[in-house]
Amino acid sequence: MKELNAGSDGAGRGRRCVCVCVCVCLCEASREHESAKMADPAMLNKVIVAYVLLGLGAVALARVLGGLAGWLLRYFLRPNAAPASYAAFRGEWAVVTGASQGVGEGFVRELAKRKMNVVLLARSEEKLKTLAADVERQNTGIKTKVIRFDFDSATAKDYAALEASLKDLNVSVLVNNVGVNVPFPTDFVDVEPEAEDRIVRVNITSTNKMTRMLLPAMIANKKGAIYMMSSAAGTVSPAPMLSIYGATKAYMDSLAISLSGEVARYNVSVQSCIPFYVVSEMSKFRKSSFTVPSATFYAKLCLDARGSDVQLNAYWPHDAMANALRLLPLKSQVSYVNDLHGKIRARALKKKEREQKAQ
Ligand SMILES: NC(=O)c1ccc[n+]([C@@H]2O[C@H](COP(=O)([O-])OP(=O)(O)OC[C@H]3O[C@@H](n4cnc5c(N)ncnc54)[C@H](OP(=O)(O)O)[C@@H]3O)[C@@H](O)[C@H]2O)c1
Repeated sequence: MKELNAGSDGAGRGRRCVCVCVCVCLCEASREHESAKMADPAMLNKVIVAYVLLGLGAVALARVLGGLAGWLLRYFLRPNAAPASYAAFRGEWAVVTGASQGVGEGFVRELAKRKMNVVLLARSEEKLKTLAADVERQNTGIKTKVIRFDFDSATAKDYAALEASLKDLNVSVLVNNVGVNVPFPTDFVDVEPEAEDRIVRVNITSTNKMTRMLLPAMIANKKGAIYMMSSAAGTVSPAPMLSIYGATKAYMDSLAISLSGEVARYNVSVQSCIPFYVVSEMSKFRKSSFTVPSATFYAKLCLDARGSDVQLNAYWPHDAMANALRLLPLKSQVSYVNDLHGKIRARALKKKEREQKAQ
């Protein structure tokens, strides 16, 4: 796992650089201070100010260079390092929620390639069965289990039945992927209360219930991996006009960070995946591009990085986008995203109008 933590090593190196710079500046300042005191006491204040400024400049520069070095190490040396091994999980089970399409489908395909059996959960049973059959055909010896489950309407009894059907499986990987959003950006006050509740039930309640259901066995077995499909929206980027969705994603992100601390001693990793756009029905991006990876490629990157960063910005252009956004003050970020979402909304409403006219 050393290679995967290259980013943290880079940050450590950056901090060491900062310490060295500060020490050098302080030594220089004290030497100059002594000679200035002897030569001209009036020069003393100027020398001190000059060295304080120089020291601060060196610290700032070292931080930037250290951060950049860590970033380059993390994203451009990692492809040469071995991806996380799933050998210890071979033949065991992974559970993927929202598995019938998009990112969930990507996780199913990539987990099966890593010789894991997979449980597929979603509402569209036919889609799940077709995907499961395809995965079994492509990965000899891999078993799948399809369970039709609606995280929106699920009752305590439904969750208990689900738990019973997973009881005999040795589950070591959970992908909390299921997620819903409003169809296009909408102000908080205009979101239907029912939609608000649905987003919370599907995005948050499902995550809590599935984690509670499967984590105890991972702890007992002293191995496991949990991925939370959070989002850049609500974590690294503000999400005005998608405020409820963004808040649910921030919840998942925060839960992942906290849980990761609780379970690390049991050899269980918990990671929050925080992408910008990925090709899927939800994102409405149909083709991959430099800034929009395919769902399968995105899932592969997350799996390859098991056990590395807790907040996993697995696709480097997304991390670059997040860093660029962070350069703006928060108020400007909010206003930028608000304008962007306003434009997306206007386009979506026009499209809807055209479709209604065409009917
Ligand atoms: N795509 C992106 O750009 C992007 C970016 C950031 C984060 N994410 C996150 O990634 C995750 C997957 O997103 P995606 O883009 O792949 O979405 P998607 O294409 O809309 O797929 C959503 C999946 O969830 C299932 N699902 C929806 N409602 C459900 C319910 N009530 N009960 C059970 N299953 C349900 C869907 O299957 P059924 O309809 O068959 O139930 C489908 O399999 C989400 O958590 C999303 O927030 C996506």
